[in-house]
Amino acid sequence: MRFEQRAVIVTGGSKGIGSGCAEVFCREGGLVAILSRGREAGEARARELTEAGPGRCLFLQCDVSQPAELEAAVARTVAEFGRLDCLISNAGWHPPATSIEETSLDDLQSLLQLNFISTFAGAKFAVPHLRKTRGTLINIASMVGVLGQDRAAAYCSTKAAQIGLTKALAVELGGDGIRVNAILPGNVDTPLMRDWAATLEDPAGALKRVEQLQVFGRMANAEEIGRTALFLATEDSSFLTGVALEADGGASLDY
Ligand SMILES: NC(=O)c1ccc[n+]([C@@H]2O[C@H](COP(=O)([O-])OP(=O)(O)OC[C@H]3O[C@@H](n4cnc5c(N)ncnc54)[C@H](OP(=O)(O)O)[C@@H]3O)[C@@H](O)[C@H]2O)c1
Repeated sequence: MRFEQRAVIVTGGSKGIGSGCAEVFCREGGLVAILSRGREAGEARARELTEAGPGRCLFLQCDVSQPAELEAAVARTVAEFGRLDCLISNAGWHPPATSIEETSLDDLQSLLQLNFISTFAGAKFAVPHLRKTRGTLINIASMVGVLGQDRAAAYCSTKAAQIGLTKALAVELGGDGIRVNAILPGNVDTPLMRDWAATLEDPAGALKRVEQLQVFGRMANAEEIGRTALFLATEDSSFLTGVALEADGGASLDY
C-alpha cells in the first residue's frame, strides 16, 4: 500500500504503458484518474481496476492535446479525490517511419502538441496542487530522445523536449519539495508497438527483432514501467530529481 489515499493522474491510462501505471498505483491503494479520448476502453479499464482494488480508478475523457480539456481534467481529479500527489504525463504517439522531407510542418506541430505541449501544460496545471502535497511529476519520454532514431526526427524532438522540461522543472520546483523525473522506456510491448509492427511487411519478424535488442531477449511489459513510475512517485526515490531514468533492458549497451 505504497500509494494509499494518494492521488495520481495518468494521461493515456486506458492502454499500454499508462494502463500499466494505473494498475500498479491502484494495487498500492492509490486514487487514480486515467485520461484518454476513447470512452469505452477508458471506462472499462477504470471499472476493472476499481473492482480489483484496493485503490479506486476514475476515467475522464480528455484529449490531452487540447490544453483546456487537460486543465478541466486536472480540476475534476482534484475535486473528486481532494488532492493531487503525482501527474504521469504518458499519452503520446509514435508515427510510422517518415523522412524529414515527408514530414509536413503541420504533422510536426500536431505531434509536438500531443507529445510535448501536453506535458508542459499538464505540469503547469498540476503544480499548484503538487505544491500542497510536495508531489511529483513523471514524464514518459523515450530512449530515442537521447539516442535518435532513423526517420523519426519529429518524434525524437518531442521526446528530447520532454527531457529538457524535466530537468528545468526539477531546478525550478525543487525548493517547493516537488520532484520531477522522466522515464525513458526502450521497447515496451503495447498496442502502439504492435500498431507499428503492423505497418511493416513481416510484423511477427519485426517484433522478434525488437525483442532481441534487449539483453534479456524480450521487451518490457507495461507493468514494469508502472513499477518504475511508482518508485519515482514515492519516498523510495526521495533524493532523485531531474533524472532521465533509462528503462531499456540494456538495449543501448554493448555498442
Ligand atoms: N511502447 C514503447 O515501446 C514506448 C517506448 C518509448 C516511449 N514510449 C512512450 O510511452 C507513451 C505511451 O506509449 P504506449 O506504447 O503505451 O502507447 P499506446 O499503446 O498507443 O497507448 C496510448 C494511450 O494514450 C492515449 N492517448 C493517445 N492520444 C491521446 C490524446 N490525444 N489524449 C489523451 N490520450 C491519448 C490512448 O488512448 P486513446 O487513443 O483512447 O486516446 C492510450 O490510452 C508514449 O508517450 C510513447 O511515446 C513508448
